[in-house]
Amino acid sequence: MKKNAMYPGSFDPITNGHVDIIERGLEIFDQIDVAVLKNPKKDPLFTTKERVKMIENIFPDQKRIKVLSFNGLLVDFAKKMKSSIVIRGLRAISDFEYEFQMSLMNRKLAPDIETLYMMPAVEYSFLSSQLVKEVCLLGGCLKGLVPPSVEEKLKGKIKKNQNLTL
Ligand code: PNS
Repeated sequence: MKKNAMYPGSFDPITNGHVDIIERGLEIFDQIDVAVLKNPKKDPLFTTKERVKMIENIFPDQKRIKVLSFNGLLVDFAKKMKSSIVIRGLRAISDFEYEFQMSLMNRKLAPDIETLYMMPAVEYSFLSSQLVKEVCLLGGCLKGLVPPSVEEKLKGKIKKNQNLTL
């Protein structure tokens, strides 16, 4: 039977850390449904459509990755997509408390959905979308932090919005 997993997040924007987790997920699962949250709490820099497109562009020929967007409860969306596994990346101890609460809340809401944590490669253990945006805004080098296509979009977005603050 085909085994799929859902990889949810804000992906504002996707980083090499996220890409690493998706690639690790593909070693275990037949299909990964990348689920982009439509309205993260913080105002996203990129629209939902842009975030979805940026992820699709990174894996143009990979038929085992589907990029979707969702609103509402993650567990409801996972059920709708017939996914009983949710993948999350865990970088450092600082991630643990939030992830611990979220996975147990999700288990309370949907006991048949399991959250699976994966560590990214160590070179991405400090990486976050927030820091990437900040470094880009302040003119720092993004080499190795995001795929080149994402770097281009980030620079374009910042150029268009000169008054941008994060
Ligand atoms: O990349 P992020 O911002 O850490 O991803 C967080 C995400 C999207 C996984 C989380 O905010 C989420 O699942 N939101 C959907 C709403 C929901 O289900 N809330 C209850 C979870 S405890």
